[in-house]
Amino acid sequence: MRTQVAIIGSGPSGLLLSLMLAKAGIDAIIVERKSRDYVLSRIRAGVLERGSVGFFDSVGVSDRLHAEGYVHEGFALSFNGHKHRVDLQKYAGKTVTVYGQTEITRDMMDARLERGLTTIYEADDVAIHDFDTANPSVTYKKDGVAHTINCDFIAGCDGFHGVCRESLPAGSYETFERIYPFGWLGILSRTPPVDHELIYANHQDGFALCSMRSANLSRYYVQCPLTDTVNDWSDNRFWDTLRARLPAETAESLITGPSIEKSIAPLRSFVAEPLRFGRLFMAGDAAHIVPPTGAKGLNLATGDVYYLSQALIGYYVDKSEKALDTYSNKALARIWKAERFSWYLTNLMHTFPENGAFGRKMQLAELGYVFSSDAAVTSIAENYVGLPY
Ligand code: APR
Ligand code: PHB
Repeated sequence: MRTQVAIIGSGPSGLLLSLMLAKAGIDAIIVERKSRDYVLSRIRAGVLERGSVGFFDSVGVSDRLHAEGYVHEGFALSFNGHKHRVDLQKYAGKTVTVYGQTEITRDMMDARLERGLTTIYEADDVAIHDFDTANPSVTYKKDGVAHTINCDFIAGCDGFHGVCRESLPAGSYETFERIYPFGWLGILSRTPPVDHELIYANHQDGFALCSMRSANLSRYYVQCPLTDTVNDWSDNRFWDTLRARLPAETAESLITGPSIEKSIAPLRSFVAEPLRFGRLFMAGDAAHIVPPTGAKGLNLATGDVYYLSQALIGYYVDKSEKALDTYSNKALARIWKAERFSWYLTNLMHTFPENGAFGRKMQLAELGYVFSSDAAVTSIAENYVGLPY
């Protein structure tokens, strides 16, 4: 088999890249190690920056997003028993759209099917070869049969645990990492959201987040020790903990119900750089992870894919390698800013016992400052809606 760009991974990065390339007439095949249903069973954050929505618009996959997504003009940070709104429209002149990442993944998969684009699901033993030459290739097994794809470029869109970053020679890249000493316990429940906007709650016992998927589907999280398992958290314990961390007024209006999904996720900041090795280009979670505070994961991936698709279009359509050469630095500049914001919001909103009473006072002073200063709240708002490309 031969294609122009072999894309490893059918998550949001690989799917969006393939659609952008297809629109420009560039041939690509996606190789994914899991099944379509498995990929669609992963639940992840659901806040889209305006820029991300624009990319989904530009490749024609946003009808359902606009029909079913919720446009939010603000969100709240709560602390000391009170909710304080960050008016995104007022301070950043933009909104965000709340629409599940699983749904946009499904929309992109459906669009690829309709457009007759090739995805190989359940590919075993995926390996990448010769990406430091002009003739890279990808090998995999499907139903026990070995296959090879020859290509011009490989796009490593295979997430944090993928094969692409692992295939790089030792010492050819640098990693930067912070692992946070807690996780997020998340539940999904068929209950109306407690508020029409998201609430990020700072509480001395730990962080909490109230989010949503639809008018009758809520997504809530509480900070928990990494040593906990979901079996430690009955639904009742979860709801009691959440209620205790919200302002009284919000807690009183919380409608609870049985959880339909419950999971614990660790929090990590991670960047591997550079993003290019010869003819291998990494994008999305393959190259970087942010903690979910601020919901930047998918939005960062769309930024990488924007730069990478422009670079590949430059190569094939304009016959210029210039944007391929600048891809890594351009994408990393934006990545590090989102890393900073996610780290900042994580530090501001979570309980870090090791920081003691002084650390807690600093958080409350910072939160008090944010809501007394147009400059400070503007900084949060402009990062939340997404920095420019
Ligand atoms: N071969 C083929 N596919 C692989 C391999 C492999 N060796 N390893 C991983 N994959 C697949 C995974 O099964 C997954 O479907 O690559 C895909 C990577 O998808 P994500 O982890 O979602 O990464 P990305 O597309 O960069 O997502 C960016 O979306 O899913 C979120 O948390 C993620 O918010 C981030 C954003
Ligand atoms: C979610 O809805 O799952 C969500 C929303 C905002 C975040 C993280 C997760 O910052």
